[in-house]
Amino acid sequence: MDRLTFDIVVVGGGAAGLRAAIAAAESDPQLTIGLVSKVYPMRSHTVSAEGGTAAVMREYDNVELHALDTIKGSDYLADQDAVEFFVAKCPDEIVALDHWGCPWSRDDEGKIQQRAFGGMSVKRTCYAADKVGFHILHTLFQTSMKFPRIHRLDEWFVTDLIVDNGAAAGVVALDIRRGELNYITSKGVVLATGGAGRVYEFTTNGFIKTGDGMALAYRVGVPLKDMEMVQFHPTCLPGTGILITEAARGEGGTLINKDGERFMKKYLPGKMELGPRDILSRSEIQEIREGRGFEGPHGAYVGLDLRHLGEKAIDERLPMVRELAEKYLGLDPIHEPIPVRPGQHYIMGGVSTNLVGETTLKGLYAVGETACVSINGANRLGSNSLSECLVFGKAAGMAVAAFVKRTDWPRGNAAKEHLAKEEARIFDGLMKHEMGKESVAVLRKEMQQIMDRDVGIYRDEKGLTDACAKLATLRQRFANVGVADKDRVFNTELQQALELDFMLDVAQAIAWSALNRRESRGAHSRTDFTTRDDANYLKHSLAFRTDGAPRIDYLPVKITKWQPQERKY
Ligand code: FUM
Repeated sequence: MDRLTFDIVVVGGGAAGLRAAIAAAESDPQLTIGLVSKVYPMRSHTVSAEGGTAAVMREYDNVELHALDTIKGSDYLADQDAVEFFVAKCPDEIVALDHWGCPWSRDDEGKIQQRAFGGMSVKRTCYAADKVGFHILHTLFQTSMKFPRIHRLDEWFVTDLIVDNGAAAGVVALDIRRGELNYITSKGVVLATGGAGRVYEFTTNGFIKTGDGMALAYRVGVPLKDMEMVQFHPTCLPGTGILITEAARGEGGTLINKDGERFMKKYLPGKMELGPRDILSRSEIQEIREGRGFEGPHGAYVGLDLRHLGEKAIDERLPMVRELAEKYLGLDPIHEPIPVRPGQHYIMGGVSTNLVGETTLKGLYAVGETACVSINGANRLGSNSLSECLVFGKAAGMAVAAFVKRTDWPRGNAAKEHLAKEEARIFDGLMKHEMGKESVAVLRKEMQQIMDRDVGIYRDEKGLTDACAKLATLRQRFANVGVADKDRVFNTELQQALELDFMLDVAQAIAWSALNRRESRGAHSRTDFTTRDDANYLKHSLAFRTDGAPRIDYLPVKITKWQPQERKY
């Protein structure tokens, strides 16, 4: 079929994928682009981003300060050339979205509103109430429809990356509705599938965030960078993990323990609730461990107090926070503090790329949470990630467009071979396994609990060694996973098995990278190596897939003008 050959295939229909597709289409309207997404794009996880997107937009701010905040927030693991590139380009992306119809909140002068966010020195986070991801996704989605050569393949799940003559040459994907595997050939591939939060049990991430793009790249030999750097967001609803946006603190919300004390004054008096997420999450755990948390049906928690903000401000600026608290906890934040505790939120690591999303495999690009450029280092600042999707989405879209126009890479039969291999693996293997030996749900839960317990906010050698061993056993047990539903049409059980397969790769990369980093830096907090060790670890981890444990290597951090210092707020 003609439509299964494109110049470019973009995998993922969230902010990063859509931005890349738009940039490629704008740079040359003749290019054909296949936008492949396992969900309808408006259901991508971008939709649940809440608080805002960072950019220097006012005279009181400047890009040097945005860069310094980001680098300091990263605990000096971010590549400084990437951060400089990023901060310089954020404002143009906000303006582009404005022109495309994004309904930003406005101040009295009509300027795009900006609010405070953790670790940012000034009000720098642009917003549209507390539904920023929803509005950005809508804006990008409707803009993408202006380009007739962006062909969408909604509800197609990519299972394999085609490599032909040493270059990315398309993907093999399952058309979920028909239950058919197909190959889609292209000269360039952009991976934009988001993160992998579902390797953890308690997470803000939607069920779709299963590390697909990370695993696809990893399986063809591309390294995953800084995978040990996993962000835990300090304000998640106990039980569900639903995010209560940092905007709630940006607007003046406070964190209290069961004695009603604003406990952050003990941990970070200079920044209080607007400190970076790694420090806030550890402070909450400390309060809870020392018996000052509230007790609830889902364990101990602390309180997020918005009562002093008043109904008008909450309804105007934080309507979704009120709605979530009412719907999921049956309480009104106008009258009661919201129970919160830290939950997995974001993976700072990802597919190792350069500034324009290129990976070590010719023709393969990665962007957004899937990628590690790296601007986030060991701890991302809230509201830098939507901006990252926009800035690097555009950069990768333009770069892949330029690449495919200058490329006439010789093709062999790889697409057909990859399809045959995937049909054998999935339809003859996984689908035909007997049920009863191992189930997806059991293995997934075991993996998530190992990750929560031993590769969480605090880590040590014993826990990490144990996690690596147990994940290796799960990997072996996965060979015996069976699927009870033998129908090919809309087989969500089969899809979940394939997603678990990807997640096991990603979880192993995280655990092994964490085991090998014997220091504490940003979100990677080792109780047995409690300080940052620049002499030995001012470097990025690179995890390479092998048939056994991942091989861990390192890459220097790029420092331009900000010499690493002790991170003090
Ligand atoms: O809290 C939030 O609204 C999350 C924002 C982010 O992760 O950037």
